[in-house]
Amino acid sequence: MEQIITVAIDGPAAAGKSTVAKMIANQLGFIYVDTGAMYRALTYQSLQEGVDPKNEERVLTILMNSIIELKQTENGQRVFVNNKDVSEEIRYPDVTSQVSFVAQHPSIRKEMVSRQQKLANNRSVVMDGRDIGTHVLPDAEVKIFLVASVEERAKRRHEENIKKGIPSDIQSLKKEISDRDQIDSNREVSPLIKAKDAIEVDTTSLSITEVKDQILQEISKYNTKNSKGI
Ligand code: CDP
Ligand code: CDP
Repeated sequence: MEQIITVAIDGPAAAGKSTVAKMIANQLGFIYVDTGAMYRALTYQSLQEGVDPKNEERVLTILMNSIIELKQTENGQRVFVNNKDVSEEIRYPDVTSQVSFVAQHPSIRKEMVSRQQKLANNRSVVMDGRDIGTHVLPDAEVKIFLVASVEERAKRRHEENIKKGIPSDIQSLKKEISDRDQIDSNREVSPLIKAKDAIEVDTTSLSITEVKDQILQEISKYNTKNSKGI
């Protein structure tokens, strides 16, 4: 039987998680699960339905009545809510500024974690988010915690926006990223923290390829150890 390997990548906003997670999944033929996109999709749908993201009960009703899917298409992985492609909309500032409020609710996290665990069931996956190594996949074979300075992260998001033709201001981005980190790290249920057994990689002065290679090395270390039965 083929060996199943799960890779958990956590860390604060714009540390480079999804970029490297996608590359690694492609290279190794693993499934990629962007858990942030799931929280963003729910936030988008709540706003569409005029529901306050801070209203746990109403947001939960939306979640229980929504089909949130990550689908592999010829344009890469796309995010769908009730069969509508919302991949672009979930990155808009109105969603970004509210998503951490949605992700704070215990009942929402419980349901999301369960959906995410099902997506990883019996498959080799690379999953990125905030609580993957601590809660979603606590037995992941490889756990990575990516960090970078807030200045560098704001700069990266700014450059990304410019490339996409989205109006962008580096100071506002710095504030938005810091505010979100603050809420994500201080919430009561599964806050953003490094799992005890995660390997921390500071990407501030690393290229994407360097980060990817470090993670691939960790995966191959695990494989070598395992094939020797250690
Ligand atoms: O791409 P970026 O790092 O800006 O954010 P994301 O990964 O798309 O996640 C958006 C938000 O969803 C985060 O700021 C968290 O509030 C929440 N999130 C979470 O709570 N747990 C996860 N496993 C993933 C995301
Ligand atoms: O998923 P997360 O929010 O952690 O970050 P991301 O969306 O993967 O990365 C944010 C931006 O930083 C992307 O445009 C990446 O290309 C860029 N990046 C970089 O310039 N250098 C790195 N070492 C990692 C990411």
